[in-house]
Amino acid sequence: MLNRQFFPWTPQLLQELIDALKHKPGALLPILHAIQDRCGYVPHEAVPLIADSLQLTRAEVHGVISFYHHFRTTPPGRHVLQVCRAEACQARGARELEQHVKQTLGVDYHQTTADQEISLEPVYCLGTCTCGPSVRIGDRIIGRVTPERFDQLVAEMTTQVLEVS
Ligand code: FES
Repeated sequence: MLNRQFFPWTPQLLQELIDALKHKPGALLPILHAIQDRCGYVPHEAVPLIADSLQLTRAEVHGVISFYHHFRTTPPGRHVLQVCRAEACQARGARELEQHVKQTLGVDYHQTTADQEISLEPVYCLGTCTCGPSVRIGDRIIGRVTPERFDQLVAEMTTQVLEVS
């Protein structure tokens, strides 16, 4: 099942997103963010459209996409799970949680589970430092995540029921 947060891309949608921002200074990053925010990732078909619109080479656009790990080039899973790796969460057990998360899901950062349910991403501070370790699932930030709580969250994600922490 597709991630319901995002819309399937079409060339027309991509061009609309590009056209809305292309006249701004430093338009490349805002365009890439807009595409990923709407479509869940930056499809490779967007590269020539962006390059032509901004008068850049395709290699230049590719270079920026690959430089920033934030940008996905493949569709995310049904849920995007971010684990905070910043210092305050590390001090509260984020490293152990991270190991548990990777082991449980069988993926590393920037990967998606084989069943396309969960994409795992690192994040550097979610603004809830005193409640670490923190994770974000979609738009929801959840604090004090223990391995046990994480297992519960995975069960909730796969049944679509997410409770506020
Ligand atoms: S350090 Fe993790 S939320 Fe700020």
